[in-house]
Amino acid sequence: MNLIDQLRAAVGTANVLTHDDPGADLSPWEQDWRKRVRGKALAVVRPGSTDEVASVVRAVAAARAAGQSVSIVPQGGNTGLVVGGVPDASGTQVLLTLQRMNRVRAIDPANLTITVEAGCVLQNLQKVADDAGFLFPLSLGAEGSCTIGGNLGTNAGGTQVVRYGNTRELCLGLEVVTAQGEIWSGLTGLRKDNTGYDLRDLFIGAEGTLGVVTAATMKLYPRPAAQLTAWAAVPSMDHAVQLLGLAHQHLGAGLTGFEVMGQFALSLVDKHYPQLRVPLWRDTPWCVLLENADSENEQHARAQFETLLERALEQGCVTDAVVAENLSQAKGLWHIRESITMAQAEEGHNIKHDISIPVSRIPTFVAETDALLAREIPGVRMVDFGHLGDGNLHYNVQAPEDADGQAFLRDWEERVNTLVFDQVLRHHGSISAEHGVGELKVHKLPTYKDPTALAMMRSLKRALDPHNLLNPGRVLA
Ligand code: FAD
Ligand code: MLT
Ligand code: ZN
Repeated sequence: MNLIDQLRAAVGTANVLTHDDPGADLSPWEQDWRKRVRGKALAVVRPGSTDEVASVVRAVAAARAAGQSVSIVPQGGNTGLVVGGVPDASGTQVLLTLQRMNRVRAIDPANLTITVEAGCVLQNLQKVADDAGFLFPLSLGAEGSCTIGGNLGTNAGGTQVVRYGNTRELCLGLEVVTAQGEIWSGLTGLRKDNTGYDLRDLFIGAEGTLGVVTAATMKLYPRPAAQLTAWAAVPSMDHAVQLLGLAHQHLGAGLTGFEVMGQFALSLVDKHYPQLRVPLWRDTPWCVLLENADSENEQHARAQFETLLERALEQGCVTDAVVAENLSQAKGLWHIRESITMAQAEEGHNIKHDISIPVSRIPTFVAETDALLAREIPGVRMVDFGHLGDGNLHYNVQAPEDADGQAFLRDWEERVNTLVFDQVLRHHGSISAEHGVGELKVHKLPTYKDPTALAMMRSLKRALDPHNLLNPGRVLA
């Protein structure tokens, strides 16, 4: 049997799509979200169970061992932003989509855990948790399409990290198909386990290069008794950082979100989605969206929030603010924040960054780097926003008005990345806080990652995937 026939035998004929199939359209799996790259898959394979994933991996591994130049690219919702989950153009990669594996396997209310398959869409997981009376706190703009497997693959962050941590902190156990096609059943709901190396953490954030995550046991939390959201105008990034300090002081663990948004980023939302009615953005360089989740009651939350905003107004770090009066207003404010990515995409191609640096250094970083960029590219437009509470900025560079976006990328992307990443290094930061390395940053890693760390990463890759079967060319060149 040739490889395609073996794949059909493994997952059923209807679940293997190839370009030779009459009328087949593989583009949803081959085109990345940002439309940076359009690959060509040997086949799109849609397994429905962990055993089927293992059979697929074994078949491709055997073909590779027999000398065929084939490999596997795992994919979830295909919302990744660094070209990590689409095939390359060679036509030799099997695109393994976990989308059919979307069941919730179990909820354990006493243990505060939920076990789900990798293809479960994040929003569905949030809803199942909510219906059961719990909170699953991972939240990001792509939640209607991204999957928990992809969230684990990228160690996604999102808007609640300041309180609940990244996806890594929310995960207790994994089921993984290894590069050899074996199944590691690590779906423990244990919060403590010191029996050696933490294998789970190896696969989280590995971007599909070390194993295929097929299921995960994730933490649940009690739903907060009350949630309050405020949108504040702040006069400078220094003041935004000062406001963050006040929020920590006054809200403690109640602070669940702290997002900063620059004026130009908000102007793009206003331009492309005027129906969203962005508040306060016209007269201030920055706005902050912050959330207080309270375990007592609404009155307590409101009192805490009012004290915080009073102090902030007194100290001049807030010039104006609106507090959402109900959940639907709060959702509206969050929707504005989550729409920046789409608005920026509507505006045209741009150079995206998801850097992190210590919060204390962010004002200096922004001032210095803005000045460097403005000097190099007259008219450049900065789309700055992000998770200031985590020291994570989306420091994005948009072409000057009327410039051709494609030409801007061609002429400037490499230079701009070097300039921004050099600044990140100087300020002791990371060139990727959220989106990962994928293909877009793979050539940059050797310059900006500690050489000993990089050598250990290469050793781990060789140990777990010696034949480079899984997502070759991503994370490590
Ligand atoms: P995919 O795009 O399908 O894959 C991403 C990577 O994970 C690839 O390398 C892939 O090979 C690997 N992978 C996928 N499934 C598996 C699996 N089962 N096993 C092993 N590897 C796997 N990211 C953030 O961190 N924070 C944000 O706030 C955020 N907001 C976003 C907003 C928008 C509008 C968009 C489009 C993206 C955003 N992202 C954000 C980026 C992206 O949504 C996340 O990285 C998300 O976690 C990707 O999930 P996915 O299922 O779409 O994964
Ligand atoms: C976000 O925080 O909205 C995301 O990480 C997506 C982006 O950077 O555009
Ligand atoms: Zn983000």
